[in-house]
Amino acid sequence: MKKYAIVLAAGKGTRMKTELPKCAYPLLRKPMIAYIVENLKNTGLLDEVIVVVGHKKEIIMDILNDSVTYAVQTEQLGTGHAVKMAKDKVTDLEGYTIILPGDMPLINETVISEAIGAHNSAQNDLTVVSTLMDDPFGYGRIIRNGNDLLDSIVEENDASLEQKAINEINTGIYIIKNDILFQALDQVKNDNSKGEYYLTDIVKILKNQNCTMGTYVLKTSYKAMGVNDLYALSIAEAKLRNDINRAFMIKGVAMINPETITIGHNVHIEENVTIHPNTYITGNSVIKKGAQIGPNTEIHNSEIGESVVCKHSLVYNSRIQEYTTVGPFAHLRDGADIGPKNRIGNFVEIKKSTTGVNTKASHLAYIGDAEIGSAVNFGCGAITVNYDGKEKYKTIIGDNVFVGCNANLIAPIEIHDDAFIAAGSTLNKNVPKGTLAIARAYQVNKENYMKIKKGN
Ligand code: UD1
Ligand code: CA
Repeated sequence: MKKYAIVLAAGKGTRMKTELPKCAYPLLRKPMIAYIVENLKNTGLLDEVIVVVGHKKEIIMDILNDSVTYAVQTEQLGTGHAVKMAKDKVTDLEGYTIILPGDMPLINETVISEAIGAHNSAQNDLTVVSTLMDDPFGYGRIIRNGNDLLDSIVEENDASLEQKAINEINTGIYIIKNDILFQALDQVKNDNSKGEYYLTDIVKILKNQNCTMGTYVLKTSYKAMGVNDLYALSIAEAKLRNDINRAFMIKGVAMINPETITIGHNVHIEENVTIHPNTYITGNSVIKKGAQIGPNTEIHNSEIGESVVCKHSLVYNSRIQEYTTVGPFAHLRDGADIGPKNRIGNFVEIKKSTTGVNTKASHLAYIGDAEIGSAVNFGCGAITVNYDGKEKYKTIIGDNVFVGCNANLIAPIEIHDDAFIAAGSTLNKNVPKGTLAIARAYQVNKENYMKIKKGN
């Protein structure tokens, strides 16, 4: 028996009032749809995840790539119509499907697993996941009959005043047997205030067919929050941020002003790390124990070693090894691999470069496409000249090299061990081991110059 998930992500997100399709919007720098798909997969309960795409589908497909199967809804005629588009992908009619909207980023794998568990143990044909909301505005309301059994779902726009007062809402998650799902969808009509084919109408249809229906009432209602506008997005992001930060703090990660700290969903942080205010750590970043990160720091897809100190700096797709200090105001990007016990100081930019142990670039330097050894001193204002407007070239620097201030190392170039580069030199030739290289005009002092100029 095959188990499917269908995630609805074809809608425009009209209420967002912006260009990006709604389900592509990021929370903590990760798109909404990516959370849902990842959490579905993490349950390990599903054989296939089908995502219904439509409006600006390329953007959603770019996010999920080939991790899912796609169904296309060319015209957005409603949630019922959207599910129907997945019909030919759901080939095993013996199985069941969990349906979720693509705009509920807070739903996690525990909720999904528990809802599926409840559906299976009740042996329902259809289970609707509901929850109680203090402010149910905008959601479909759960209508129960005199025996408290599920009767139907009424949308906000079609609800009477009395129905609007109900605070049990439809989360938009359903678990349903496949053979029942598609025959019910064929009967859904669009005779409602929006003129759409509502998925929610299958409840009434199945009720009339005497199918076994039940609800799974979710206790943590905020996890079912649907994101329809940018305000809701900010609330969802704050909830997610708080959940993630709390879990880290309980595991021994100290956070100063945690509400200003953003840690992504896939970040790994070891204990005894301190994170200072206004810091973002996102992507697949790893922070090892004893590190001090921030304030005002961004780290994305990077590995930060044990006891590293990194403040007021940007680190993207890079690695900083143990006991190195970075910042303030350093920028490490795209493949900077900084060795242990380095010092990368103020206003230093490094990309696609490696360094050995105990190397220092303490102030105002640019290092690009370089391989730098150990115990190198890269002086203030020194730069690798790695680009001629067309191609990038490599700089190789051995161990114990002293690069004087304001040196220009025109790549390709190789500076061998123990070399000493005089300050202000512009070098375009290799420097052998232990050599002093000076490449600058000699100083000329014109004596009495000021007197002559004044003519006395
Ligand atoms: C829907 C439910 C409502 C529920 C709420 C939970 C219906 C009719 N209503 O309302 O009962 O309380 O979710 O958050 O189902 N989509 C498509 N194609 C379409 C229309 C929508 O793929 O033609 C997708 C959207 O991209 C979105 C999801 O379906 O991810 C839900 O659509 P949305 O318009 O947000 O529905 P709600 O009005 O929130
Ligand atoms: Ca919604």
